[in-house]
Amino acid sequence: MRMVDLIHKKREGGSLTRAEIEYIIQGYTRGEIPDYQMSAFAMTVFFKGMNKQEIADFTNAIVHSGETIDLSPIKGIKVDKHSTGGVGDKVSLIIIPLVAAVGVPVAKMSGRGLGHTGGTIDKLESIEGFRTELSREEFIHNVNTYKMAIAGQSANLTPADKKLYALRDVTDTVDSIPLIASSVMSKKIASGADCIVLDVKVGSGAFMKSLAQAKELAQTMVEIGKSLNRKTIAVITDMSQPLGYEIGNANEVKEAITVLQGKGPEDLTVVALTIASYMTILGEVYKDFDQAYRELERVIKSGQAFAKLKELVQIQGGNPEVIDHPDKLPQAKNHIEVKAWQSGYVESINAEAIGITAMLLGAGRKKKGDLIDHSAGITILKKIGDEVKAGEPICILHTNMEECGEAEQMIKNAFSFSKVKPPQIKYVYEVI
Ligand code: URA
Repeated sequence: MRMVDLIHKKREGGSLTRAEIEYIIQGYTRGEIPDYQMSAFAMTVFFKGMNKQEIADFTNAIVHSGETIDLSPIKGIKVDKHSTGGVGDKVSLIIIPLVAAVGVPVAKMSGRGLGHTGGTIDKLESIEGFRTELSREEFIHNVNTYKMAIAGQSANLTPADKKLYALRDVTDTVDSIPLIASSVMSKKIASGADCIVLDVKVGSGAFMKSLAQAKELAQTMVEIGKSLNRKTIAVITDMSQPLGYEIGNANEVKEAITVLQGKGPEDLTVVALTIASYMTILGEVYKDFDQAYRELERVIKSGQAFAKLKELVQIQGGNPEVIDHPDKLPQAKNHIEVKAWQSGYVESINAEAIGITAMLLGAGRKKKGDLIDHSAGITILKKIGDEVKAGEPICILHTNMEECGEAEQMIKNAFSFSKVKPPQIKYVYEVI
């Protein structure tokens, strides 16, 4: 087989066989297929797509490009969750203790942030001492004993995806449905959970900008799950503006704590409760959505979910006092207000631009391996539909940098105002 012939076949609209797909993934993982051929291949997939069989075979080949994790020593139905990536998305910080509090084992593997989207592992590391590198034994022990553990993905999990994702990032081939679906599902399948709840984001801060695209991505991932024997539910949620009010790391942990105390922002609370409800249904603790949602609300009100977060921090080596006293989390030196330049209503917020601004302030990485500043970030004060007066602050930049004129300008460009109140945004669009 020759890679150039397979690129040609795909370019001309043909379908690849399982053997051909395995040849591509194995060859690329071993370094026998160079980046320039893989880039051309990713671009042909971007334009020509893949059929269902090709997507399933591609996913499976990525799963087997590295180690797979056997979670069978964990008792019960193991449930995992994955977001396709957003801005201010701290849902995982909330659902891990919440779902564990009702007895569903949560074996969570998470990533770091890259580009405009944040990562759960970075957020948790703003808690002093919190360890995200757990041995397989400790991970399994913690899930069996406490019903929860969170770890960064081991270096050898889906190495083909790691290489291909980095290549897609620099060849403008990230937002291809077959490539995102296989990337997300290969990681979830290799990490061994029985059931998966996917949070498919749609809007200005997501890879999928329209509901039609988000639905197609959700359906594609649910079908991959089915074909590889994993019960999968996809929830399409809003990312037309940041989720909640905080974007960064330490400040996102703070906001997640407020949700577990029953006093968090409405959009974040509804999305977290919705995702958690489907996790508990797949985990067979509750039968239907209304029952699950009600019970999980009760678990928050009773303080059990908050106590479970403290327990998570404690067992993974962090300082649990931080959860009672979030002011002990890292704080930036400078807090700069950005003010509205006209009166009216907030009409739109470009969430991707907000994510990029947070990264420029130090909250994210420009490139892999960069150090991040856990105290840096943005607090949004006005969201879509809120009334503002000219001169009123619309957000606060938290930074240790002395000069952030570029960030201030980006924030200004990210907001638009209108004279009339825009329609209310839905938090959850559809469940597939
Ligand atoms: N998240 C992933 O894990 N992979 C993608 O391709 C996009 C978002």
